[in-house]
Amino acid sequence: MRLRVLDLFSGLGGFSEAFLRRGHEVFRVDNDVRFAQVPCTIIGDVREIDIEQFVPIDVVLASPPCETFTRRHLPWLDARDGEIEEAMLLVEAAVMIIDDLEPQFWVLENVQGAVPHISRLLGPPRQRIGSRYLWGVFPRIHLTPQEERECYGKYRLPPSVPNRAAERARIPYVLSLALCRAMEEQQTLLEVLEDER
Ligand SMILES: C[S@@+](CC[C@H](N)C(=O)[O-])C[C@H]1O[C@@H](n2cnc3c(N)ncnc32)[C@H](O)[C@@H]1O
Repeated sequence: MRLRVLDLFSGLGGFSEAFLRRGHEVFRVDNDVRFAQVPCTIIGDVREIDIEQFVPIDVVLASPPCETFTRRHLPWLDARDGEIEEAMLLVEAAVMIIDDLEPQFWVLENVQGAVPHISRLLGPPRQRIGSRYLWGVFPRIHLTPQEERECYGKYRLPPSVPNRAAERARIPYVLSLALCRAMEEQQTLLEVLEDER
């Protein structure tokens, strides 16, 4: 079984990386031309992209920008009126795409500061892994303590690292892999049950 996976706000592609390496078909969408060289990336705005081109989709992964939520969560950083509403427009755009595509699985990822805002729309997160909060419809995932440690923010990346902001935002491979394996297992189980009917 080969899953068709849509990765929204894909950046360096961390969220869907394990899906790609394990042979699934991946489509990535990001509006920053710096990511044009990341495999499978279409440059475009999630609010404007024609989603018909991706149908059918089995999995939607979405990691909307988190800077605003982080800033609001840390009161010593600057905050601007209306910026949460702006950030939420991108979350809502992702949710509309998920509603339209009706994938079997979907996962929306964000940071702690986003929890009160996104939970108003989607209810509480289904799972927290490290500093990442996950909403959606997906099999619960299990990581070793060492793997979970890799899922905390990479605030210690030295300023000399190229593309530092994008590297900090990149979803760790262990998280992508755990999700991919859990979905593959559930999919296989469903197929076995289907065959037995
Ligand atoms: C949190 S980062 C994603 C990190 C990514 N999941 C990874 O693992 O590398 C958010 C991304 O959203 C992109 N973005 C922001 N606004 C967007 C929009 N309107 N449409 C598409 N992408 C957008 C940014 O360029 C950035 O790469």
